[in-house]
Amino acid sequence: MSAPAVHESVLDAIGGTPLIRLARLGAGLAAPVYAKAEFLSIGGSVKDRAALSMVLAAERDGLLAPGGTIVEATSGNTGIGLAIVGRRRGYRVIAAVADRTAPEKWDILRAYGAEVVLAPTAVPLEDPAHLFNVVRRIVEETPGAWLADQYDNQANPDAHVRTTGPEIWEQTGGRVTHFVAGVGTGGTITGTGGHLKAVSGGAVTVVGADPESSVYGGGDGSPYYVESIGHFIHPDTVEDRWPLAYRRDAADAFERIPDRESLLTARRLAREEGILAGPSSGTAVAAALRVARRLGPEDLVVVLLPDSGRSYLSKVHSDAWMRQWGFLEDGGAVETGGAVENAVPAEPTGLRPLLDSAGPLVTVDADATVGEAARTLHGVPGGVAPAVLARTARPYGVSAAEVVGAVSREVLAAALADGSAKPDAPLGALLGPALPAVGVGQSVAEARAALGSGHPGVLVLVDGRAAGVLPRPALAD
Ligand SMILES: Cc1ncc(COP(=O)(O)O)c(C=O)c1O
Repeated sequence: MSAPAVHESVLDAIGGTPLIRLARLGAGLAAPVYAKAEFLSIGGSVKDRAALSMVLAAERDGLLAPGGTIVEATSGNTGIGLAIVGRRRGYRVIAAVADRTAPEKWDILRAYGAEVVLAPTAVPLEDPAHLFNVVRRIVEETPGAWLADQYDNQANPDAHVRTTGPEIWEQTGGRVTHFVAGVGTGGTITGTGGHLKAVSGGAVTVVGADPESSVYGGGDGSPYYVESIGHFIHPDTVEDRWPLAYRRDAADAFERIPDRESLLTARRLAREEGILAGPSSGTAVAAALRVARRLGPEDLVVVLLPDSGRSYLSKVHSDAWMRQWGFLEDGGAVETGGAVENAVPAEPTGLRPLLDSAGPLVTVDADATVGEAARTLHGVPGGVAPAVLARTARPYGVSAAEVVGAVSREVLAAALADGSAKPDAPLGALLGPALPAVGVGQSVAEARAALGSGHPGVLVLVDGRAAGVLPRPALAD
């Protein structure tokens, strides 16, 4: 084995990541599955490559000059790459980050000397508070500012044409037959996949790993729980736009992965392979395993793991977080005959027994009239229901983020009886705050604590989606 490289600058330590065989997760499969370990890049993610490429291109094109400021809208990792490259080259760096991203990433950005601006996630593209509009304003107001614009910047996919693709081709001695990666800006899959197709004369199959409800792979754009990949569309967004860094024919096929499978696969990667990676790595590996199951010994799958799990110790790698959103029912993973999985215990625990006897979930459209809501709630046990945006499509269930309030039969009846609301009036003013949400794996005591003294019930989540309501009497001692 040759000695590791010696670098004169941190910038030379970007990329050059190893391939690691997933021997345990891939056990029993004819085709070997190798992980491209991007968390070993100097900034901890695949985005170091794009950041370096974009900064060098901006300097070359005269868009960024000494004394300048680098601005970017980022789920964190691109900001970290830009902070490393930018600060090292003497620039000010401002990263606007969606408040949904893991807080660990904000601290890492600050540690590297970037200024962090938080922007809300749950707003339509047209809203001035949307991340993209926030960065545009910062650029207008800051002399010498340059917007890296990873979504539309060709230097992003180019980084992967120059580095990631050639590395994989060389590391596998040209034996790679399938490349699997998630799609955020699309830079990775477009650049790496494009290069591998070009050098192999079209022989390499490129597969996109997408959250099930993301629009890239054919979902409706409703919310999902894996950050940094997929494409979400807020229901109030008028005109959706896809990144130019993503070439629409980059992937030959998509594997659409439910959140639970992504998250549990990320946890298995840590526990079984010793690879602590983020949730988008879980999506990618879940997709790669699906692909590999259909292949033979002459095939070789490379799956790209974009970042480290250290940024998600409070999310996917936290049992409490997994339980809170209904992804774990037993309080943690258990050993079952060598495989670690989230087994549903023989004796149902947590809120599962109560949920099973609570009846099917009933929701009310927030845009409904008082009369419609009263009719919907007729005969519903407990007489309380979550209110959801009427414009939301629901083939994947109602995500916790789509619940905008709650409505109770008592409130409607009282308003209709005293004449303060007519049946054809909009529900609006009679909507109460959203019910507190608890995961199905949480305890009855935790549900009671969430209920507090004022709420008429709790919303129970299974896999991050509304599964039922437990009205206050169902939780009584
Ligand atoms: C953790 C993580 N996974 C996946 C991606 C998607 O990569 P790309 O933007 O190249 O499609 C990103 C991009 O920011 C990321 O940070």
